[in-house]
Amino acid sequence: MKAKRRKLNNTRVLVGITGSVAAYKAVDLIRRLKDEGASVKVVMTDASSRFITPLSIELAAGPGNVFCGMFDNPMAHIELAVESDLMVVAPATANTIGKFAQGMADDLLAACFMAYRGPVVLAPAMNWRMYESFSFKENLTLLKERGAFEVEPEEGPLACGEYGKGRMASVERIVEAAKAALCEKDLLGRKVVVTAGPTREHIDDVRFISNLSSGKMGFALARAAAARGASVTLISGPTVLALPDGVAFVPVTSASEMREAVLEEAAGAHALVMSAAVADFAPSVRLEGKGPKEDIEGGLSLTGNPDILAEAARLEARPLIIGFAAEAGQDTARAEDKRVAKGADYMVFNNVSDPEAGFDVDTNRITVLGGGSPVSHPLMSKEEAAHVVLDLLIPEPGA
Ligand code: CTP
Repeated sequence: MKAKRRKLNNTRVLVGITGSVAAYKAVDLIRRLKDEGASVKVVMTDASSRFITPLSIELAAGPGNVFCGMFDNPMAHIELAVESDLMVVAPATANTIGKFAQGMADDLLAACFMAYRGPVVLAPAMNWRMYESFSFKENLTLLKERGAFEVEPEEGPLACGEYGKGRMASVERIVEAAKAALCEKDLLGRKVVVTAGPTREHIDDVRFISNLSSGKMGFALARAAAARGASVTLISGPTVLALPDGVAFVPVTSASEMREAVLEEAAGAHALVMSAAVADFAPSVRLEGKGPKEDIEGGLSLTGNPDILAEAARLEARPLIIGFAAEAGQDTARAEDKRVAKGADYMVFNNVSDPEAGFDVDTNRITVLGGGSPVSHPLMSKEEAAHVVLDLLIPEPGA
């Protein structure tokens, strides 16, 4: 059986809100979790209600879904704990994290945490000095060792006027972490190398040849593989995308830089997923500075770039290799030819002239070639397509 899909629909999420200036962001978080199909109940600490009122939270979570006092319903801490599939504490203060780590249960949220037995996502928010303090670090480490997932705070201006690491992570990152926490860790212990984005081949220091790849498919693959427990290295050409959490990142510019990084990282890896749109050609000579256009016009000579995938396929400790064939049309024959010629185990056919499956959109319609008959999948999000591709790393029982 293939690994379960990783969505928040039909998931019962218990959101804990603690006393930080970031508490107002919980409104957006609750809405986003509900948009993803989760049902949400909220526990607020006393301190959090100084920053945002339970009424505002109730407007987002729905009537009857916000709990504050330990003794409003003496069994709430057990019922909420038992009836939740996921606990997300955002913002999570040093005080609450300390209580969780040290086994205190003197408020409803801490008591819920103690009674709860499922995945936990913590989004700390505090002054950077507190975040770096020995006691806090020790408490957080303890919780992480016990399986809690931290969505690390971001660096920036803090409420106290100082600058440092302590701003609560974006709601988007917290939602991603929530999804990741629910993922079956079926790629645990495997190293997966993913390439993404375009490469840039410089004519001079300001001009380059490239393509329209946004990197979205590759970033989705890296995020999904990390969520499934893989140790992920993402090698990407220039993009504007936010880095997925928990992924080692190797930024590159040109195809030759990507080649070097891939050959180094892929040797000994379990899988290499080449979703990058490697530029096919590079200028034979790179001019310095900004070359006069007269020197370029009519005189641009191009050299073919190395085929990175084909080279990786010749490595001695060769990983399983999945390529992405960008084709302009419905015919998969050329993609299958590429798979065989390059030595990929699988080739994911991608019709980039399809407006719902091309560059820079959030959806894809893929056909997987290799390992038997082609398998065509319906239109889906790039995130879902990423999981379909990663399922290729999990052998079917009996196969
Ligand atoms: N690829 C590569 N190195 C290259 C070109 C492509 O590793 N120099 C990889 C891509 O990352 C992808 C696969 O090969 O996984 C197919 O890429 P694609 O662009 O579809 O094919 P090309 O070989 O570049 O052929 P063409 O551009 O003519 O379609």
